[in-house]
Amino acid sequence: MIRSVFRTAFSSGNSCMHFARATSPLPSALKFVRDFATVSSNKPLKGRITPTVRKNMPSYGPVSSEAYGIWFPEGKKYEDSDFFERLIIEGNGPALELGCGDGRLLVPYVAKGLDVDGLDLSPHMLDMCRKRAEKKRLKVSLYLQAMQDLLIPRKYKTLFVPYGSFMLISNLPEVKKALSRFHDHLLPKGKLAIPLFIPTEADIHQAAPKEGEWRLRREGTRADGATIRCYEKARFDKNNQIENADYKYEVIQAGQIVGTETEDLTLRWHTQGQFHALLKDAGFENVQCVRDYSQEPASEKDCEFTFVATK
Ligand SMILES: C[S@@+](CC[C@H](N)C(=O)[O-])C[C@H]1O[C@@H](n2cnc3c(N)ncnc32)[C@H](O)[C@@H]1O
Repeated sequence: MIRSVFRTAFSSGNSCMHFARATSPLPSALKFVRDFATVSSNKPLKGRITPTVRKNMPSYGPVSSEAYGIWFPEGKKYEDSDFFERLIIEGNGPALELGCGDGRLLVPYVAKGLDVDGLDLSPHMLDMCRKRAEKKRLKVSLYLQAMQDLLIPRKYKTLFVPYGSFMLISNLPEVKKALSRFHDHLLPKGKLAIPLFIPTEADIHQAAPKEGEWRLRREGTRADGATIRCYEKARFDKNNQIENADYKYEVIQAGQIVGTETEDLTLRWHTQGQFHALLKDAGFENVQCVRDYSQEPASEKDCEFTFVATK
């Protein structure tokens, strides 16, 4: 079963929520800048990271990005590793991971000789990714850009957006724009893969047991022995299919809090029917929806599914 990074509760036995398409006003769009900077593995992160990008970067700051590597360490095979690897190999051409983060998947794929580039909105995540690649003496091409603004000089046989990251585009016009940009950046017959989930009642209860209360979400130990704790406070707007989650990070050394960071994530979930229609509207063909990371078609009851569509 897929466990998206955004969910930690297991949802077996719980039915997910299928809501009608949102009709009331959507939350205001984050204003992303169209600039992008390429980051090669052996150069420091630089480029046109304007103050506007910094101001509007919603999440994945330095502590959050470091913590991500603790929650999802290197050298492990993850539940989605084989799924995307197979797709990239079948694509038999260049691939791009959108929202590549710290290279959890990208770096092992490049280490296996696959031609995979990465794109992310967080310079901190890209920096972690670059460092991971450098440790293995690998060259990676990374782009600092919002995926809904995707505009880069290369086209791909495979585009993939792992771990529910696509749901971080919470504004519907931006969702449509992203899918259209993805379509433009695929080579003929290229494929797009996007795993999604619909929160179950158990997910909602676990993320938000009591409205307005912080709960400890994750805890881990850094290489220098410091503890990193992440607290979460979430709100769910079921009618609009939106989750707003606030996170608070604490870095604790010798019993003292030596660092803190906050982040806000807004996630939009899509029903299978809604997302199928969005992909078709963006020009995709042969739209398939499989259960988790399997090859089996998803049933309507599945809350965790992956769309694979062809240009
Ligand atoms: C949950 S992490 C996933 C990282 C990596 N793909 C993985 O599977 O481990 C989500 C990533 O998406 C990035 N992200 C969020 N919104 C984005 C956007 N609009 N465009 C590009 N990247 C985005 C974040 O900075 C973060 O690195």
